[in-house]
Amino acid sequence: MSTPAHWSSRFAFIMAAVGSAVGLGNVWKFPYMAGTGGGSAFVLVYLGCVLLVGVPILMAELMLGRRAGQSPYYSMVELGRRFGGTPAWGFIGAMGVVAALMILSFYSVVAGWALAYVPKLFAGSFAGATAETTGAAFGAMLAEPLTLTFWHALFMLGTVLIVARGVQAGIEKAVVWLMPMLFLMLVMLVGYAAVTGDFAAGFAYMFRPDFSKVTPDVVIAAAGQAFFSLSIGIGTMLAYGSYLPRTVSLPSTSVIIALADTSCALLAGVAIFPIVFANGLNPSEGPGLVFVTLTVAFGNMPGGSIFGGIFFILLFVAAITSSVSLLEPIVATLEQKTGMKRSTLSWLVGLAAFALGMATVFSFNHWADFHPLGGGRTVFDLIDYVTANIMLPLGGVLIALFAGWCMDRDTSASELGMVGSPLFTAWRLLVRFFAPAMVVLVAATKLTA
Ligand code: TRP
Repeated sequence: MSTPAHWSSRFAFIMAAVGSAVGLGNVWKFPYMAGTGGGSAFVLVYLGCVLLVGVPILMAELMLGRRAGQSPYYSMVELGRRFGGTPAWGFIGAMGVVAALMILSFYSVVAGWALAYVPKLFAGSFAGATAETTGAAFGAMLAEPLTLTFWHALFMLGTVLIVARGVQAGIEKAVVWLMPMLFLMLVMLVGYAAVTGDFAAGFAYMFRPDFSKVTPDVVIAAAGQAFFSLSIGIGTMLAYGSYLPRTVSLPSTSVIIALADTSCALLAGVAIFPIVFANGLNPSEGPGLVFVTLTVAFGNMPGGSIFGGIFFILLFVAAITSSVSLLEPIVATLEQKTGMKRSTLSWLVGLAAFALGMATVFSFNHWADFHPLGGGRTVFDLIDYVTANIMLPLGGVLIALFAGWCMDRDTSASELGMVGSPLFTAWRLLVRFFAPAMVVLVAATKLTA
């Protein structure tokens, strides 16, 4: 047996956790949601959700992982037995493993689109493009299962190669240079947007207060987005927490992770919207925003091919540091269960996720009209819906409840390094009452939506 895996430094852990949090969700989804949700009103609600629900659950998940020091499933079995009266709490870990596999399967396909756009942009294929031509190009790509499969396979291969090498030699080595690179590219794009775009309009769109737009739907959307963006609820942070030494303060690192995640989302918006407005494009384009809308701008601006290429590399980097955090909890759990080698398991799980991802690939072409449960949802829509709206909130609420009600006060306080702190009382109130209530509200509303 090798020594248990652990991060080599607090910096490496923070890069890994921020890498997990900052992903596809930040770069196109957040800006779009902020824009349609009333700009600064949405941003404020979102910040509130991150602070009052996200950070407490993030702290809880990291705390449980570090306390048990095992893979996500076995950590929850062990803690359940010790503090919860039953190993059935392992359900959180088991469901997390399944959810992670499901998310990874489509995440890789979508990240593959970003990868596919890198050479397209650098080659200048969108020069002089209009919204019609970029829309047609995007549609044409989705119509070709072979093309999608190729980029999906390539992205999954990259994810497997990183996780197969282990926590320090793989994940850490990748994130400690990918994350600063990501940040640099983001800042560069913000600069580019400031120079070539309509910065005032983009900024106003995101930050001009309009509280009339704060509806219950916006609050719920903001809460759900906070969950997904912070990577909580399915065991990613249980796994990452289990590799943490006792000396690291969980409250302060959780705040750092949340701050970095939120800043990256805000920066992505500040990089995207000025370009959108300067070109008279539609900011509420949705999933097509970066692939259809933004490419029009890149095709018609000075240096657009280069900065466009950089933008899609950024999207890819953000995605791969997240996808490794989806593969890791699965591999860690199976490693403990089977005793098989991490590298072998990484390949096997990667292959399974790749195979499952083919359902997403076909959802855009051969199976585009196949709606297994009716309601116009493709298989991809269903996988996305079930994970985001059911499994993620359920996992989050169970983690909050377990940390708040099963773990005793003293153990939590000492594990969090908050003995005697009034902030500890606040944390406990949030995970016991506020976060569960909020999550149940989100889940209930999403289910009926
Ligand atoms: N947070 C990532 C994003 O914003 C996605 C992600 C990675 C995730 N790991 C996760 C979401 C675990 C939920 C749970 O794109």
